[in-house]
Amino acid sequence: MVATPPTHHVSAAISLYALAHALAHFNAISALDRIDNSLRNAPKHAQFACVFRESRLPVDIRNQMDNLRLVGVTSQAKTLYDPLSQESRNDPYPAYERLRTRAPVYYCEPRNVWVLSRYEDVRAALRDWERFTSAKGLEIGDFVGFFGKGDFVQMDPPEHDDVRRIFAPRFANRAMSHYEPIVTTLAEQLVSEFPREGVVDIAGAFTQRLPLLTICQMLGIADSDVPWVVKSFIDMMKRNAGENMPSDHAHKLRSELVAFFNEQVELRINQDGFDDLQSDIAHAIQSGIIDRSHIPGVCLMLMHAGLETTSTLLGNIVHAIANKVIDSRELMDEQGELRNSALEEFLRFDAPIQWLSRVTTVDVTIHETTIPEGSRVLLLYASANRDPDVFPNPDVLDIGREGSRHLAFGEGIHFCLGMPLAKLETRIGIRSLLRKHQTITANGRPTRFPSLVGRGYDHLPVRLSPAEH
Ligand code: HEM
Repeated sequence: MVATPPTHHVSAAISLYALAHALAHFNAISALDRIDNSLRNAPKHAQFACVFRESRLPVDIRNQMDNLRLVGVTSQAKTLYDPLSQESRNDPYPAYERLRTRAPVYYCEPRNVWVLSRYEDVRAALRDWERFTSAKGLEIGDFVGFFGKGDFVQMDPPEHDDVRRIFAPRFANRAMSHYEPIVTTLAEQLVSEFPREGVVDIAGAFTQRLPLLTICQMLGIADSDVPWVVKSFIDMMKRNAGENMPSDHAHKLRSELVAFFNEQVELRINQDGFDDLQSDIAHAIQSGIIDRSHIPGVCLMLMHAGLETTSTLLGNIVHAIANKVIDSRELMDEQGELRNSALEEFLRFDAPIQWLSRVTTVDVTIHETTIPEGSRVLLLYASANRDPDVFPNPDVLDIGREGSRHLAFGEGIHFCLGMPLAKLETRIGIRSLLRKHQTITANGRPTRFPSLVGRGYDHLPVRLSPAEH
């Protein structure tokens, strides 16, 4: 049993906090930062005692402290969470925990965005497309609407439903048997290019390439065009920490890619015999569901959906194997296939898309805080997936966890259309890799892909050794 701290310690703790908050408020200096920093430097047992003491306070006192933090004090004097910060890039999970416990409806003043972090709040907002519109973009700053018209993840019904329906058959579960041999050939081809034994940047050579090559095949891009399309797309998407607008170079690459896709779809409008995603676009234009102005948005969005997401999932799994977080044999079932529970747990544990945003169409009140109409609201899928109210021991990667209701693929009308494909690519990718190289060990420092919403690996150097048969 744990002892309750004496009352005078409690009141002293509250006074200290209140004083710190008041100082921070009036002097606009971050007294809290200093207290937090001194705590950080304090011995582990002292840090624990402080956190413990706060968590043991009576609920009404904790609420008062939360109110102190919430009534602008913390949000202005100390930023609890900044989606563009280096910390968010490196390890956002401590910040997510702070948000869930201290400020579930948080206003991040420097970025002028609101943030929802608890599972139920994120899920409710995702389901409520009428009050949380996607039509004003999903990112922040000038990246909003970068792909252009046609990007149906940034549309509301009824237009969204019409465009999604065009592509639904190709991404349906039943269509996966058609893609299975294609993805297997691509994966085995990539793996066959690795040395039998040696160091490989598995992100550049595999985890990014497999999903991109797959979506290029699905779009019907000719083999000769694939290398520059892939390179241009990857370079276009690179975003450095703190950047909230696309560079001139990104705009230039976007123009080149758009010109390419316009030409390819035009070809399919004038010529029969194609059977790919671009011919689906051509048919939809011919039947008047969309027009030519939708081509850039829809093509770039489909490329994007295939790049940052599945590659992150694959990279996270390989990283865990290489760093011995997990034994590769535990990941696979008796048939040598990746266990489904493991795949789901990796998605929950480190969601490939950490957040996307919506804009409120009316005033929305959550936990007695009103988010004004027209506000951009970040929905933290990755934080929702670590909510202890839904997932016991959320910070533990438990590949046997069953029945996970994670939000990594979203929820509601925009639920990931590519989920069956993402799972297929991951299953085949890991299987192909481990069949040839059963020993994968970390070799050097990995770096992350410069992105706002994802945390995938850009470089992931590993040493491969052949499987012992
Ligand atoms: C592990 C891999 C993946 C993850 C974690 C993932 C995650 C997501 C999420 C969170 C959304 C919802 C966006 C929102 O709420 O606004 C979404 C939508 C979407 N995803 Fe995925 N995705 C993955 C792979 C893919 C793949 C491989 C494709 C196919 C190219 C794809 C295609 C799409 C499309 C088209 C949408 C938009 C659906 C709509 O707006 O109706 N995704 N995805």
